[in-house]
Parts: sequence; C-alpha cells; structure tokens
Amino acid sequence: MGSIRTAVVGLNLGMGHVRAYKALEQADLRWVVDLDEEKAAKAAEEYECRYTTDWTSILDDVDAVSICTPHHLHYPQTMQAIEAGKHVLLEKPFANTEEECLKLIEAADANNVKLMLAYVVRYMPHMRRLKQAIDSGEYGVPFNAECWVEAYLQPRPGSWLAQKDKLGGGVLFSHGCHYVDALMWLLGTPTRMTAMGTRAGTEWLESEGTSHALMQFESGALAHLVTSWGMKYRETPAKYHIHTPKAAFIVKGEQVDVITEEGRKTLYDPAETKQPNIFLPEIEHFLDCIATGRSPETDGRDSLKSLRAIWRMYEEQDRFGLGEARL
Ligand SMILES: NC(=O)c1ccc[n+]([C@@H]2O[C@H](COP(=O)([O-])OP(=O)(O)OC[C@H]3O[C@@H](n4cnc5c(N)ncnc54)[C@H](O)[C@@H]3O)[C@@H](O)[C@H]2O)c1
Repeated sequence: MGSIRTAVVGLNLGMGHVRAYKALEQADLRWVVDLDEEKAAKAAEEYECRYTTDWTSILDDVDAVSICTPHHLHYPQTMQAIEAGKHVLLEKPFANTEEECLKLIEAADANNVKLMLAYVVRYMPHMRRLKQAIDSGEYGVPFNAECWVEAYLQPRPGSWLAQKDKLGGGVLFSHGCHYVDALMWLLGTPTRMTAMGTRAGTEWLESEGTSHALMQFESGALAHLVTSWGMKYRETPAKYHIHTPKAAFIVKGEQVDVITEEGRKTLYDPAETKQPNIFLPEIEHFLDCIATGRSPETDGRDSLKSLRAIWRMYEEQDRFGLGEARL
C-alpha cells in the first residue's frame, strides 16, 4: 500500500478511478463517496476501503481526491478540496465558466496543490504513440485531421445531463472536450474555430446533441470533429484520420496504423499491450506528479485552452442557433 491517501467522489465513471487507485502501489485508497449510500457501500466492500455520503467529512483523512461528479459541482467541490490543501484530479470538463476555471487555477497555485484534469484520452498508450510519430517529423507536418466520436446516451428524465446549465453546454462541451483537447495536443494552437450543432435526434438534451466542429491551426492544418450522443448504431471508440504530405495515420479503436508509399504498417497494436484499465496511465501520472512535485501535463492552465476554443465555437454556434436558420 502506498503513501498517497486517496478518495473518489462520484461512483459512476468514478469507479474507473477507484479501480486504478486500488491497482497502483503509490496509492492508499481510503474512501469512496456517493450520495447513493448503497452504491458507496458496495464499492467500499469490493475495494476494501471506507465509504460515506458526505464527501466533506473525509478531507482530513486524504492527501488527494478524484472528483467525478456532475459538471455544475466541479467548481464548488474542487475549490473546497483545494482550500483544504488537497491535490485534485478533476474529471473533464474543467468547470462551466472561464471565470470558475481561472479561480481554481489561482487557488491551486496559492495552496500549492496539484490540480489535474482527467483527460484520459491523452494518457492512453496508443495516443502517446500517435503523438510520438507525428512529433518525430518523419512523416511530415499534418495538414488535415478528421475525428469521429459516435456515442449514444439516454439519460433518465430530469437528469443533469439533459440540462444545459448543469452540463455546461451540449455534447461538444461534455464529450467533445476530450477530442478538441487531443486535436490541439496533436496539431497545436488553433487560430480559427467554429461549430454547428443540432438537437435533432437528441431532443431530450437542451443544447446540441450532435456537433460538427472545425478548427484551423497555426500550421495551417484543418481539423473536423464529429461528436454525437444520438448514434444508436455506433462504432466506438473514436476514430481519427490524420494526413501529412507523406503519410496518413489511421486510428481505429486503439490501433494506430500509418500508410506511406511503402504500404500500411501498424505503429501500435492494442493486442500486444492491452491495458486492464484505461484510467491507469492517467492516474499513475497524477500520483507521480504529487510524489515528485512536477506539474501534470493536463494541469489547469493547459486544460483551459481547449475549453476556451469550445467557448469560441459556441459563440459561433449561438449566432446561428441550433438549426433554426433558413436560407
Ligand atoms: N473520461 C470519460 O471518458 C468520462 C466518461 C463519462 C463521464 N465522465 C465525467 O465524469 C463525471 C461524472 O459523470 P458520470 O457520467 O459518472 O455522472 P453520473 O451522474 O452518472 O454519476 C455521478 C455520480 O456522482 C454522485 N454524486 C453527485 N453529487 C454528489 C455529491 N455531492 N457527493 C457525492 N456524490 C455525488 C451521483 O450520485 C452519481 O453516482 C463528469 O465530469 C463526466 O463528464 C468522463
């Protein structure tokens, strides 16, 4: 058992964090927390730790906390944890407004704690391999990227997921943020960006449930991102096609191939290195940053950049509405 005392708040997606803390020897998983007591008790029994429904009661007994709760709670909960001197691994997206994000960045600096955003995609081994291949320069500079993320969501009536003010936007903000972040990580700083969204097919959601986003980067490269929560007959997970003058990178599932004039070869084969838990590399990075004092790759400042890009896209989307405009 490790020396970093941890807790996880919010036990749906948060169960991935629970399993990773339990598996990593640097961590001492002490608490699981959920408003649903039965859920918390079950997780505590399975992962041999304590449970509570009041997350504020555990702050004296932990060094670090994963916050995996609905988006409108990210700001107040993270602020409270930071002010109590705790390191925070916060699920994406950061917070629902830029002002809240900036206050959290400032508070983490002032309290000398790590604030890391859980951009799990960035830490996945196949994405690291893709980035390494692009950054090597061996294949030339990308000029065109496409990314598709097909998903299907049917939340219970009244769920926070359907409410724009709680979710912080629509599918682009909530799920697309992973891929805007990843595309910026791969291609650099965007100089122009826009998005179109629709509620067609996801009428349960107050904002867009299907989004097409476009970005242009400082290099001149263009990227097109499709995200949706309405695709019942979907192919998951995300797919990418990234073209350079000399090559095309094809990412499907966790397999990364490159096509050049020499033919097609696999750069990353998930069958050879299958991870038991996709959250392991990200959570290992968080623990390592706490242990060594270095800054997380996806710290507050870094993670704010992709949300700023999304908020710019939403300004464009709002000018036209969600499909009401007519020629
Ligand atoms: N990395 C990913 O791929 C990924 C996937 C899904 C969700 N997420 C993120 O994870 C977070 C949670 O999403 P979800 O889908 O698990 O939401 P959810 O609504 O399904 O689950 C949230 C859980 O938090 C609990 N909760 C709510 N308020 C609480 C409080 N004050 N104290 C303790 N527990 C509380 C709820 O009871 C529920 O069990 C969001 O930030 C979401 O964007 C990330």
